[in-house]
Amino acid sequence: MVTSSTAGRWRHVAGSSSRRIARAIDPLEIANGARVVDGRVVLVVGASGGIGAACVRAFADAGQRVAAADLKQGTMGALIAEVGGPTTGHSVDVSDPASVGRLIDEVEVAHGGLDVLVNAAGVLRPAPLLETTIEDWDRTFAVNARGMFLLSQAAARSFVRRGMPGRIVVYASIVARIARPNNVAYCASKAAVVQAARCMALELAPMGVTVNVVSPGSTATAMLLGTQMAGDRNARETVVHGDLAAWRLGIPIGRLAEASDQAAAAVFLAGPLAGHITGHELIVDGGQSLV
Ligand SMILES: NC(=O)c1ccc[n+]([C@@H]2O[C@H](COP(=O)([O-])OP(=O)(O)OC[C@H]3O[C@@H](n4cnc5c(N)ncnc54)[C@H](O)[C@@H]3O)[C@@H](O)[C@H]2O)c1
Repeated sequence: MVTSSTAGRWRHVAGSSSRRIARAIDPLEIANGARVVDGRVVLVVGASGGIGAACVRAFADAGQRVAAADLKQGTMGALIAEVGGPTTGHSVDVSDPASVGRLIDEVEVAHGGLDVLVNAAGVLRPAPLLETTIEDWDRTFAVNARGMFLLSQAAARSFVRRGMPGRIVVYASIVARIARPNNVAYCASKAAVVQAARCMALELAPMGVTVNVVSPGSTATAMLLGTQMAGDRNARETVVHGDLAAWRLGIPIGRLAEASDQAAAAVFLAGPLAGHITGHELIVDGGQSLV
């Protein structure tokens, strides 16, 4: 586990507790710019990636205690030092039940509880159908679908055991609903995430736990730039402006999403204004999937 030794930008919020039951918040309190008194423990998984790191920054900026976890620890130390405060770093393989169990235990010990799970871990192995291997299919499902199930189940057990009205936000993709070439395993794994989240939302609602999905469109992170677009100098142009030969619209808003666009959706779904939203898929794609 990594902890920050710097005070950084963290603003500790007096009177907060991970065991505090969420109170109803007047939306005007936020609209008028007042800070919501909070300090919930937010576990962000996939925190070394583009969207996960943006979530760590966004939740810390929103006054939450953040536990950041990833398989890769490469950029974790720098991220935690940048965010500062009580932010902690953890190692996890989301496809491994024992590793996920250890992560939840570590976070509960380090922060005294767990209030929000944000899962931004994922893998993308693009390949034409005829060349997709069983290994490609299995690893994609192990991380994207089984990982989402294992993390959500473990977090939900933690919430229910402690009587917490917790929040779960998971990242799927617009390709859960629209087909794309060379991505059969990835698209199918994201469809599994959306439907699993809806079923979890139904079961957990009586316990006061919400489960929601953010489905990004093309977002400027390593997953897109380093994998999907790798080796294609025109790829960015094609994605933004469309490819009529393939009947792809492009992105009507005219740019790739930034990781911070995706993190803002998670902060909303985990926050006080989203208390009555569950089983929802929030699409953040600049209109990419409209037609
Ligand atoms: N970038 C996009 O265009 C885009 C579009 C749609 C959906 N998404 C989804 O958003 C989420 C975040 O994507 P991103 O763009 O930040 O990707 P990214 O590749 O930058 O980050 C993904 C992170 O997941 C981690 N990870 C992979 N396997 C893991 C495992 N077994 N255990 C723990 N961590 C593991 C990686 O180490 C990496 O840090 C993913 O679920 C992705 O599928 C991204």
